[in-house]
Amino acid sequence: MRRASRREFLGTAARLGVGAATATVLPLAVAGRACAAKPRRAASTSADVKTESVAGDSSLGAHGAAHGLLYGCAVNMNALGADAAYAALVREQCRIVVAENAMKWGALRPSAEGFNFDQADALVAFAEANRMKIRGHNLVWHQNNPKWFDATATKENARGLLVTHIETVAGRYAGRMHSWDVVNEAIDVAGGRADGLRNSVWLRLIDEDYIELAFKTAREADPQALLTYNDYGIEPETHAGEQKREAVIEMLRRMVARRVPLDAVGVQSHIAAAVSTDGNKSAASQVGAGLMRFIAAVRELGLQVFVTEMDVNDRALAADEPGRDAAVAAAYRQYLEMVLGDPAVRLVLTWGITDRYTWLGHEDGRADGKLERPLPFDAEGKAKAAFFAMRGAFDQREAAVSHG
Ligand code: XIL
Repeated sequence: MRRASRREFLGTAARLGVGAATATVLPLAVAGRACAAKPRRAASTSADVKTESVAGDSSLGAHGAAHGLLYGCAVNMNALGADAAYAALVREQCRIVVAENAMKWGALRPSAEGFNFDQADALVAFAEANRMKIRGHNLVWHQNNPKWFDATATKENARGLLVTHIETVAGRYAGRMHSWDVVNEAIDVAGGRADGLRNSVWLRLIDEDYIELAFKTAREADPQALLTYNDYGIEPETHAGEQKREAVIEMLRRMVARRVPLDAVGVQSHIAAAVSTDGNKSAASQVGAGLMRFIAAVRELGLQVFVTEMDVNDRALAADEPGRDAAVAAAYRQYLEMVLGDPAVRLVLTWGITDRYTWLGHEDGRADGKLERPLPFDAEGKAKAAFFAMRGAFDQREAAVSHG
């Protein structure tokens, strides 16, 4: 089957239909892992389907807030401008937003001298108009650098480029950001360096102190934002996962020892509903004690932990939608119940909110060409089992944890 191109997909006129503010409650059997100790309130059988509000006090944002958690999502700025129902859904569910792409170098830097803040400013205006917090993502990454970058950046000018970028971008929104991902994905154990640092363009041009330079510059530019190191592949109970965790923790320890201004660690949390051959994505069933030890170690360093980009890919599952939705929901429930058990975790963001605009699938999607279903709302804006699983996991956060 031919898969619709991204453009065709985005251009599809179907409405998301969130105005009704109701959704089908999925049968308990598919609503995620039931907790034996605390039976879920809305127990139902597969024959007993009812509707329940998912807006207002019933939203993810409200349930999170009631348990000491901020919930939000990554926002696709093209969709925000073109799709009013999508904007309404983000407004309805989120207490915090992050730009999926609009604050990356590729979006902000049309040229070495110039900046284009149109989309970034639009997100900040949207968030502030709706009293949402804002995360910045990201100031330094090995990916998404603009086309001119490779031809222009040299060992001589790289420090200047980095500092000017951070001063200009973080400075523009100073005092208005909840947090910034200052450095994204700096560890790549497979690269073979003893310190685990990725052989990124920034490392090659500046050397390993680019990380310290970035954090110090960010702190000066915006003393109020929580400065975050963000990475993927920290989650799985695999050898590669353990190596990644060790390398990240070692880097964080070095940073803390050198008094690098750092407040939080982002665990991206791109996980899978079932084990696949994909090296970095881990099935929820492969997530466990290693991640919890990592979170505890981060907490002991005095840092917060943010779940920054959660989604659950269904690539390794058979096509049937109820089956996929049940497995995705179970993965959300298991993962979030586990990580929210640590008081250091105060923030959960999903990477998107509706399957309509998920990033999964542009590059290496399902072999059958079907749309992935990795997010709490389906392509029509209807709450899926994953929504109820997330909300249930928020509700189960212990009172002692949420107020700790
Ligand atoms: C992704 C976006 O979702 C895509 O639209 C874009 O094409 C590539 O980047 N880790 C990150 C995010 O830190 O910035 C990535 O976002 C997903 C993986």
